[in-house]
Parts: sequence; structure tokens; C-alpha cells
Amino acid sequence: MCGIVGYVGSAGPSGRPLDVSLEGLRRLEYRGYDSAGVALVVPGGELAVAKKAGKLANLVEELDARPLPPATAAIGHTRWATHGGPTDVNAHPHVAGRLALIHNGIVENYAVLKAELLAEGVEFLSETDTEVVAHLVSRAYDASKDLTAALASVARRLEGTFTLLAVHADLPDTVVGARHDSPLVVGLGDGENFLGSDVAAFIGSTRRALELGQDQVVTITPTSVTVTDLDGSPVQATPYTVDWDISAAEKGGFRSFMDKEIHDQPQAVSDTLLGRLDLAGRLVLDEMRIDETVLRSVDKIVVVACGTAAYAGHVAKYAIEHWCRIPVEVELAHEFRYRDPVVDERTLVVAISQSGETMDTLMALRHAKEQGATTLAIVNTHGSTIPREADAVLYTHAGPEIAVASTKAFLAQITAAYLLGLYLAQLRGNKFPDEVAATLAELREMPDKIQQVLDRSDRVREIARWMADTQSVLFLGRHVGYPVALEGALKLKELAYIHAEGFAAGELKHGPIALIEPGQPVFVVVPSPRGRNSLHSKVVSNIQEIRARGARTLVVAEDGDEAVVPYADEVFSVPQSSTLLAPLLAVVPLQVFASELAHAKGLDVDQPRNLAKSVTVE
Ligand code: F6R
Repeated sequence: MCGIVGYVGSAGPSGRPLDVSLEGLRRLEYRGYDSAGVALVVPGGELAVAKKAGKLANLVEELDARPLPPATAAIGHTRWATHGGPTDVNAHPHVAGRLALIHNGIVENYAVLKAELLAEGVEFLSETDTEVVAHLVSRAYDASKDLTAALASVARRLEGTFTLLAVHADLPDTVVGARHDSPLVVGLGDGENFLGSDVAAFIGSTRRALELGQDQVVTITPTSVTVTDLDGSPVQATPYTVDWDISAAEKGGFRSFMDKEIHDQPQAVSDTLLGRLDLAGRLVLDEMRIDETVLRSVDKIVVVACGTAAYAGHVAKYAIEHWCRIPVEVELAHEFRYRDPVVDERTLVVAISQSGETMDTLMALRHAKEQGATTLAIVNTHGSTIPREADAVLYTHAGPEIAVASTKAFLAQITAAYLLGLYLAQLRGNKFPDEVAATLAELREMPDKIQQVLDRSDRVREIARWMADTQSVLFLGRHVGYPVALEGALKLKELAYIHAEGFAAGELKHGPIALIEPGQPVFVVVPSPRGRNSLHSKVVSNIQEIRARGARTLVVAEDGDEAVVPYADEVFSVPQSSTLLAPLLAVVPLQVFASELAHAKGLDVDQPRNLAKSVTVE
């Protein structure tokens, strides 16, 4: 939530600080798009500030009409509004005296701090918590003439979450940042340095980065990066090289990042498998750096995650319980944290997160650690907070996901969670060694099969365009098809703003069937007819039940499934697979449908209203 950039190095190779900041903001806009703004330090000891409500394009228009002077340092912000509506005045940066400051997060004790400043006669222009912080830092700087110390001293007083960046008109070559429970990474250049909420901010200029820990303060100049803790003691930050480049953060000829990311999915799955299977087809996950005796003794797994990531966990529950015979609970991270959950030293808590920064998931992870659980993160973003704090990490390798709604990360999360389940089964011995080996082999075929689903997506697109005026769509599934149905509904809600609900198909006659009236579109995710437990015939019966009541049935079924044909208004076929791997295929037509329908409605599929990627507030 909120994108933050900082840059120093007007003589560096990347060009003007304003251009570097705008480019960074363009790449971070997915983090929030309620307003955007920049503050520049202008030689001669001045600040120049521009900020505008709405998307970044509004700010760029403003800057074209009223250009800012050349500068030596810059900070920039793209906002997801918390305190105060999305107006020009509430947009960041906030200026106090000769200081400008930007913020990602929420300062929970801002009212107390504001009252203190009001009593001293400070006047406020905005309704934000950030302006309070700007005044506090400005005053601290006036007293000490040390911006790093000033920011650190104020950071120590703040409660809540924050990344703060500040520039001062006295300091033409300095940007100072501080973080507590909000993301901030450093980009290392030659004769220039960068700060960003994530590496996308500077990936066009450098792939060398520094991870910052919690409660650290960083001061960048064109030729130096200094990191301390909030008390001013030096800290050694960890350098790393970003394993993707700028082309991964471009649309690559697709009309939206969403389209590109849906098409990236075979690669995302294949990269997540890469290097994790040895020549004998056995899983090698030493990279997790987790004690095998701990994994052998685990007697319960709890997955904590939010939204799409939680649905990936829900899919994995079916697989891990089956392969490992360990009970798996899946819990929305924000519910887990506040309900006194039963976890102990023998519980493995798995936090799944694309961004690695979701505050709800981070808080759940911390709570689990406090209870003595072993924690493992399945995360896509290197350098983010959740993998830093977890005992172990298994990265998904989906590459940067820029569209706000998650697609390729979902498939990569299922893949990684399956690898974890198969690894546990391998480690602990299991009832189905042949099935485990066969699943590992089949996983390798999944990228090709996903590609086949994509290659067949014209009909889904056509139907989506016809359905652009639809008011409500239901999604049904059983077993692993149930979380797929939930994910299909979520994609449609968030991309196309259409009322959509996912149900377990077996639950239908316990209530939701009352929603069925003539013409009601219902997607049904049908399991393989070759699977076990007569699941398939049960779902076919469900299709008959809703069809008999006039529903328009849109059926996702595997190749050769003739049983569904008489009851389906439309069949979207996917290649055959085992039951547990089918979600990697079945969800793809649902993603394509939601995205195409949103395009047909003329909506911004990459940046749906009210949302932000990386939800860094609780
Ligand atoms: C939906 C979506 C969200 C995220 C959720 C968790 O399309 O993107 O539901 O899945 O906010 O985010 P991460 O995975 O970053 O923790």
C-alpha cells in the first residue's frame, strides 16, 4: 500500500531526479492510486513540490503545465488513502518548514502527537497522520541539524506502521528513510542511489539492492548508503541481486499487465519447480534451511494468508492432508491473529504471500512464532518482511506481479505448497509413494497443459464479452474445485465489479440454490471423471439441479468428459490431469473470463478501484 521512491545523484547515469522519481512511481502505482506527488531539493536551498489527487497521469499533466526546476534529490509517493480522503491537499509529500516527507502505513498515535503540536501553535493543512510526522521531524531537525537523527528520534515515538522518507532544503544530496513494519529497499547505483517500496522502483537503473531490517534508518547520498538502528548504532544491511530485469516489469506487448501475467503462468509454474527436483525425480528443498527433525515431528499445519493466497492454501490443504496425513487448517490471517488459536511447538505455520508484506499475514506469523510454532513462508518477493521473519522460506518464482489482482502468483503458490506437501510426504514416509512420485512427474507437465488452456481461451473471451452486462455470476466446485470457485468469484468481483459468489457445490441445496432463477449464469468446476470418490457424478448431479431451475451453466471440465455435455450451456475444456493438480488448469478460464469481461466494460483491469497491491495496513 502506497508506493515510495527516493533518489539522489543528479550527475548519475539515470538522469534527472524528477524523471527517475516519476519512472519509479509509474512502476509502483499498483501499490495505490488515490494520489501522487513529488518533492525535489533544488540547488540554492529550496524545495519544489507538486501533488495531485487521482492517478499518476494527473500529476504528470500538472508537471507539464507547471514544470519544476532542476533538482539534486527527490522523493515521490503514490497513495492508497487511509487518514483523509484522496484530495490534492491530503496527497503526499507533506511539507513542514523546509522539510518534505512521505509515508506508507498508519501512525496510530497521531491524534496525541497532533494535539501536542496544536497546543504549540502548529497549523495543519491536511487531515493526514503524515503531516503530523513531517512537523515533528522538521522540529527535530531544527534542533539538531541532523536529518538522520531527527527522523530516528521521531520514529521512536510513533506507534503503528511506517516507511518514512524525508528531504530537507538544507541538504541537496541526501534522502533519509526509516521503516517499521512497512517495506523499504535500497537500490545501489554508481554515483546515484535509490530507495523504493520494492525493487520495481529502480529496476530500470540497477539490480543491486540492499535489504533493510525492521526499525532501521537509511541515509543515501550519491556515493554512500548508511544504515543504523533507531538508536543510531550502525547496522550491516544484506546486499542481494534482483533475479529479474526490467522486461519482466513491462507489458511486453499485452494490453494489460493482467493479460501478460495470465500468459506468464506456464513460466511461473515451471520456474517454481526449477532446480527443486533431482535427476531421480526426488524433491530437494535444502534451500528452506529447516531442521528435518522439526518437519518430521510436526503434527499440525496451519496455513495463514489472505485473499487469493488463502485460496492457494485451501487448495493445498486437500493435497497435503492426503499425501502426509497431517491435519491442515487454513485460516485467514486476520482472523487467526485475534482468536487465540491453538498452536504449539509441533505446529508448522505456513504463511503464503505474493508480496511478503501483507500486514495481516505478517502479524499472524509473528503471533505463531510467539506461541512457539515453527514458521515457514511461501513468498514471491525477495527482500520482503515475511520471509525475513519466518524460520524458513520457500520462494515462488513467479517474477514481479504488477496487476493488482493476483493470477500467476496463485498458480506459483499452489505449486510451491504442493512441493512442500510432497517433500513432507517424502521425508516422513507415506501411504502413497507411487502417487507422490507420479504427482512430481505430472507437475513437470503442468506448464505445457496450462499453455494449452491459454491457447484455447478464445471462446471464454467471446462469452465474457457477451456477458458484459451481467449483474451476478455464481461459481460452484467441490474438493479442490471449491477454492477454485472461490477464486473465480473473487477475480470477477475485483476486476469487473460484478456480484459473484463461490460455493461448495454440495452446499447448494442447503441454501444458495434459492438464488437460481432463469438465466442465472453459474460456472461449475467439474472434477475429473477418472478421479476417486465419485466426486464427478456428484458435481454432474449439481449441474442438473441448477439447470432444471433455469441456470445458464458454464462448465469447466476436462477433455473427453461427455457426461457434462447434455447439461452444459457452454463447456470450457482443459487437458486431463490428476484431481489434485486440476486447479492449476481449471482456474485459468476463470481468470481469463474475469479479465476479458472487465476489459469489455472498459475498466482498468490492472488497477481496480479501491484496491492496492500489498496491503501493508491491518
Ligand atoms: C486478489 C489479491 C489479494 C491478495 C491478498 C494477499 O486478487 O491479489 O486477495 O491475494 O491481498 O496478498 P499477498 O499474497 O501479497 O499477501
